[in-house]
Amino acid sequence: MTYIVTDNCIECKYTDCVEVCPVDCFYEGENMLVIHPDECIDCGVCEPECPADAIRPDTEPDMEKWVEFNRKYSEMWPVIITKKDQLPNAEERDGEDGKMDKYFSEAPGEGG
Ligand code: SF4
Ligand code: F3S
Repeated sequence: MTYIVTDNCIECKYTDCVEVCPVDCFYEGENMLVIHPDECIDCGVCEPECPADAIRPDTEPDMEKWVEFNRKYSEMWPVIITKKDQLPNAEERDGEDGKMDKYFSEAPGEGG
């Protein structure tokens, strides 16, 4: 199994998750992170750290599309291992519906 990042990360990107990952498998897009499913060792410590509740185990229903989404972008974006400031509208956009269609950017983040 693996853990993956789902759409409520978009436009929040709190990055608390990256500080606790023992294998540095988070990758940064312009407005969300993803986890590389083949690098994640399923330790689960990142899940409770996310203020937006965006990290899920792939054992939940209908997670296959998110596993493939996380794999695709983790191979395109730079690794991130250091926490940075959340995005400016993080608190307002936490929990908003339709974030993928409204805001998702394929552009890479800066990493670091
Ligand atoms: Fe990293 Fe563990 Fe989270 Fe996987 S479950 S992304 S190994 S902290
Ligand atoms: Fe995103 Fe949550 Fe990490 S909002 S950046 S998955 S702490």
